[in-house]
Amino acid sequence: MIRHYPRRVTLAPNLTPIASLVGTWTGTGSGEYPTIDPFDYTETITFEDIGKPFLAYQQRTRSPEGVPMHTETGFLRLPAEGVAEFTIAQPTGHTELCAGVLEIVDGVIELRMSGVVAGTATAKSVEATERRYRLDGDNLRTDFAMAAVGVPMTHHLTSELGRA
Ligand code: HEM
Repeated sequence: MIRHYPRRVTLAPNLTPIASLVGTWTGTGSGEYPTIDPFDYTETITFEDIGKPFLAYQQRTRSPEGVPMHTETGFLRLPAEGVAEFTIAQPTGHTELCAGVLEIVDGVIELRMSGVVAGTATAKSVEATERRYRLDGDNLRTDFAMAAVGVPMTHHLTSELGRA
């Protein structure tokens, strides 16, 4: 006998505060760091509900000419009320373990996290990161800073995204 199990259509209860983050976001960003030339990019981010108490995350970026740039993938976790954790893998040989807070003020959702980074033997040195995701209505802003290649914590990326 074949049993058909119903596919869950409701979000895991712990994810309810960030339900509006689920989906695909696209827009533009710009980057800088004291050791490199400033650059612009386009970005697509997806936070996907896969029926578990975390969201699956994927990010892809391209140059304004359409050439693929940085990409990363991971999982956004809300292990306790107001607590946010993000585990991220990067093709540059880095893994990032971020921990911080989820704050919602006047409907504006803000995730603020600090990350510790491990790198492979050939990866550039990245000691620590800071990430912020701010969702205000249909506008998602991301900010990223890092302590890397001997430079203390400094801004690297900002992007402004809307619903795809
Ligand atoms: C350098 C773009 C995310 C770490 C660079 C460079 C570009 C760039 C164009 C300069 C060229 C190069 O060295 O390849 C981006 C884009 C990102 C992104 C578009 C995502 C939107 C990240 C993340 C990390 C990171 C998440 C670390 C966790 C670095 C490092 C350098 C670098 C360590 C080298 C700096 C140096 O050698 O002086 N990035 N990046 N980047 N990026 Fe990013």
